[in-house]
Amino acid sequence: MLPLCVVFSVLAAWFSVECNPSPVLGDVVVDRYEIPKDCAREAKTGDYVRYHYNATFTDGKTLDSSYEKGAAKVGLIGEGRLIAGVDKGLQGMCVNERRKITIPPHLAYGSSGAGDVVPPDATLVFDIHLLDLWNKADLVVTRTVRTPKHCKRSVMRTDFVRYHFNGTLLDGTAFDSRRVLDVL
Ligand SMILES: *[C@@H]1O[C@H](CO)[C@@H](O)[C@H](O)[C@H]1NC(C)=O
Ligand SMILES: *[C@@H]1O[C@H](CO)[C@@H](O)[C@H](O)[C@H]1NC(C)=O
Repeated sequence: MLPLCVVFSVLAAWFSVECNPSPVLGDVVVDRYEIPKDCAREAKTGDYVRYHYNATFTDGKTLDSSYEKGAAKVGLIGEGRLIAGVDKGLQGMCVNERRKITIPPHLAYGSSGAGDVVPPDATLVFDIHLLDLWNKADLVVTRTVRTPKHCKRSVMRTDFVRYHFNGTLLDGTAFDSRRVLDVL
């Protein structure tokens, strides 16, 4: 037996019937206008994300902005905690990517809107810059950049070590740089 949706799609070709029952726009429209060359991984359900955004109405009027709040937003994808359209629109995003997500009302605040802030049936545009991405299942990843030719002894537990480090966030921003003496 054919799934109902397929049957409707075939009918749609004949009678211009919409298989997707959603009003206005069927889904979010994503414009990935800046994709970084290096994209080790893409945001998916269960990931935590940190991003800057400017939210506007279709006429360009500002609704909300993380820049104005002075802090990037942290969210969890695919768990129903974000505006539905933002949740969908963040899927597959790379760190350092910028994308514009146009969200139809039914995936935002619907026909009721939100107080005096969002009128009924408003389409929202989120301009998003993804800064960070992590998941509870993440492990520490180590990559050896250079090993000396002669290595008589490698580090073990309880060794004292002296080293330099540069600490950067996933988006490349430096957060710390030090020379330390430590014990493992
Ligand atoms: C948001 O708007 C500010 C000010 O116009 C701009 O500097 C920033 O790049 C924008 N950010 C995003 C993610 O669109
Ligand atoms: C840290 O960054 C500085 C400046 O870019 C560089 O000279 C140095 O080699 C780096 N140190 C390490 C441990 O990566």
